[in-house]
Amino acid sequence: PRTARKDDDGVLQVGGRDVASLAQEFGTPAYLLDEEDFRARCRDFKQGFAGADVYYAGKAFLCRAIVRILVEEEMNLDVCSGGELATALAAGMDPARLALHGNNKSVRELTRAVEAGVGRIVVDSFDEIERLAAIARERGVRPRVMIRVTVGVEAHTHEFIATAHEDQKFGFSLAGGKAFEAARVILEQDTLELRGLHSHIGSQIFDTSGFEVSARRVLTLQERIRTELGAELPELDLGGGFGIAYTSQDTPSPAGDLAERMFKIVADECRGLGIAQPHLSVEPGRAIVGPSTFTLYEVGTVKPLDGLRTYVSVDGGMSDNIRTALYDASYSATLASRASQAEPILARVVGKHCEAGDVVVKDEFLPADVRPGDLIAVPGTGAYCRSMASNYNHVPRPPVVAVRDGQARVIVRRETEDDLLALDVG
Ligand code: LLP
Repeated sequence: PRTARKDDDGVLQVGGRDVASLAQEFGTPAYLLDEEDFRARCRDFKQGFAGADVYYAGKAFLCRAIVRILVEEEMNLDVCSGGELATALAAGMDPARLALHGNNKSVRELTRAVEAGVGRIVVDSFDEIERLAAIARERGVRPRVMIRVTVGVEAHTHEFIATAHEDQKFGFSLAGGKAFEAARVILEQDTLELRGLHSHIGSQIFDTSGFEVSARRVLTLQERIRTELGAELPELDLGGGFGIAYTSQDTPSPAGDLAERMFKIVADECRGLGIAQPHLSVEPGRAIVGPSTFTLYEVGTVKPLDGLRTYVSVDGGMSDNIRTALYDASYSATLASRASQAEPILARVVGKHCEAGDVVVKDEFLPADVRPGDLIAVPGTGAYCRSMASNYNHVPRPPVVAVRDGQARVIVRRETEDDLLALDVG
């Protein structure tokens, strides 16, 4: 995060607080969120994408305090479940600023969205179109919908590969003609207002050529809808997926550059097709919240394995960051509580779970004198860590502490053993 730096004693600072005092006050492990960084990234995207709409993807991390910040920063919000929708509404987000996603929204979720007046519902199946049209008809309203299009582009970190559209659970396939058919069916429903097409090609993308292909494909469909069905679609959503730096190997673009490229892609494709430019929206999650947060752990045991590496066990693990185990994701780690002149050794930061795959950071050089009681910070854990956290091994989930201007406040409290027991019946 932008306010993070080490002081002269090697103690990591964030938001005007040092991690040693934060560890004392809030315990470890803890997710420490640099609120200024989060807000700055909201602003970067808003400014970069001025003239477009930016939806923060709540799946990356959501709680009421985050929703309130989004309201203050005048952001829109993408929600993908009844729970995320409830959180957004509970914290006062204007429903018109919400987009609801999901390949299997329940009748209950759709009803709630329609009744609340959610701004966009991104429809994902023919079953859903039918369900939504009926719900809207009963209530005499006309929700605004987007069509989730599977464009046959799957982005993978630095490259993109075309995938067989039949092999996607999301959206309506473009190649199979289903997306066009969805537009036809929606346009026949007088209780649904078709606003545009939506495409999300993947996550942690650095190469914008995937967006270029997807924009070309959805805009070609848009043109077909105009000529064959006589419908002008005023909007286009190209989804999220902008990559962040987990390690020094990753080189993300600033939001402004990204926006420039995305606008150019849309403008070029529209010019090529001779069609009017739709109003653009994007849905970054990771790129806004990911870099804002690091996880602070305390070292419990240090186990050098001769000729291999040193295993440094911390007091969390795969229950607070499943991404290493699940996606083979790369993270970095740093000694956060003191300076050390000791030579670097190859370390693996592992958790406390009963599983050999419980790795937080696969490879990192840590000072050879790393020892129990040291604090270790793992940056870039704002996205898809707390939101994907579990209670595996009955480990309570860590708190999220927002730090800003020397003030720290808990925005999600630490789970307790009582919380875990509270769900057991009998
Ligand atoms: N919009 C839609 C329709 C999405 O499905 C997603 C992410 C986003 C936006 C936001 O993508 P972002 O900008 O955050 O990359 N758990 C995985 C990531 C799953 C993303 C799912 N959809 C991970 O930890 O990498």
